[in-house]
Amino acid sequence: MNQSSTRIADLKHHAGAVVTVRAWVTHLRSKGKVAFVVARDGTGILQAVLVKSEVPEASWNAFAELTQEASVALTGEVRADARAPGGFEMGVQTLEVIGTSPNDYPIQPKEHGIDFLLDHRAFWLRSQRQVAIMRVRHELEQAVHDFFYARDFIRCDTPILTAAIGERAGLFSTDYFDEGTAYLAQTGQLYGEALAAAMGRIYTFGPTFRAEKSKTRRHLTEFWMIEPEMAWYDQDDNMDLQEAFVRYLVERVLERRQEELKVLERDTSKLDCVSQPFVRLDYGDAVKLAQGKGSDIVWGDDLGAPDEALIVDEYQRPVFVVNYPKEAKAFYMKENPLDPRTVRCADLLAPEGRGEIIGGSQREDDYDKILARLTHEGLPVEAYGWYLDLRKYGTFTHSGFGLGLERTIAWICGIEHIREVIPFPRMMGRLSP
Ligand code: 4AD
Ligand code: MG
Repeated sequence: MNQSSTRIADLKHHAGAVVTVRAWVTHLRSKGKVAFVVARDGTGILQAVLVKSEVPEASWNAFAELTQEASVALTGEVRADARAPGGFEMGVQTLEVIGTSPNDYPIQPKEHGIDFLLDHRAFWLRSQRQVAIMRVRHELEQAVHDFFYARDFIRCDTPILTAAIGERAGLFSTDYFDEGTAYLAQTGQLYGEALAAAMGRIYTFGPTFRAEKSKTRRHLTEFWMIEPEMAWYDQDDNMDLQEAFVRYLVERVLERRQEELKVLERDTSKLDCVSQPFVRLDYGDAVKLAQGKGSDIVWGDDLGAPDEALIVDEYQRPVFVVNYPKEAKAFYMKENPLDPRTVRCADLLAPEGRGEIIGGSQREDDYDKILARLTHEGLPVEAYGWYLDLRKYGTFTHSGFGLGLERTIAWICGIEHIREVIPFPRMMGRLSP
């Protein structure tokens, strides 16, 4: 079947030929003895023209019955036409209806509320804007693999059902036979550290879960994270890698997904800032900067979204905020030898008020110090035996980070809320579809 039909994006290779396109109807128009079918197949949009005197009666009658989202097979001649979407249209010879569609398709060319659209996500995904977002997502996922493959990192998959907890954010849990409670992974990092000791440089790319009761535009309960972990990298090496990585991702989308960015009406000049060196701002200076702009943050607090916005606004390009207070961050971060109240870490804040897209750090490599931090945090030390042992059997300087895929897509595409950049979002209050 595939062999005998042509995808809309490939029509440009078939000018003058007669082909069959299988697609879904988006718009219908007719003027007396001429009718137009506009259809989409996920690769593009086709305008097909039927002239009553040139098509079989059955095809002309089929047109009269057509509705939005009916699936059709259109056979005809491909003709160059500068006014048509994609530069080509089809002079139809036959129209065959494959699947009819009741005349009450929920998504109409008008404004719908966000809850309505999310309830109808399975259909909403068919719209041009959603297809454009998913294509950028796909490009970024491929770019992630290409970036690390070229640098000889090994991709490693880490478990989703876990016993040890990585982050402070909320946990999803489930009973696990006789082993007690299993948690859905908030991070692959702890396993990544073990894998880095085995393989040197690795990355994970998988779904992560946080039972966060935050209804913000940047929180999902299930999101995808890329987590590299590198043996013998200190925090400066770590930030250099992050900077090269983020720059690569943005440039890759600019290079290959201009069509999609156009559909999304993205002002791409705002992304040019990634070519400049990223700012590296000490946490203490970041706090002072935010205070100077009216924030009531005090030294010791984690930065809130409004503080992050104030800080990035100052520079209009990505900013690393480095060396946060220990108490504001996770137990595994390395104590800063120059100021033991702080840890060797950085959050990377994206421009345009997007906030944190990466959290990363050098890891505590001292057995006693990390044990003390675990105990201080009240975490169950027994669950971390294998993790602590990484510090006992050949401890090593190592660092890593986690880039949130959805926040990165939303920034690059200029989408307000990250629920729109994952096919079927999971959030507080939404488990379906
Ligand atoms: O800063 P986080 O919590 O860091 C970690 O999980 C580390 N274990 C990473 C590492 O060092 N290997 O999360 C990393 C990133 C954030 O910067 C953000 O982009 C994204 O993951 N993120 C979320 N994205 C969507 N919804 C949520 N609820 C998110 N929580 C974190
Ligand atoms: Mg973080």
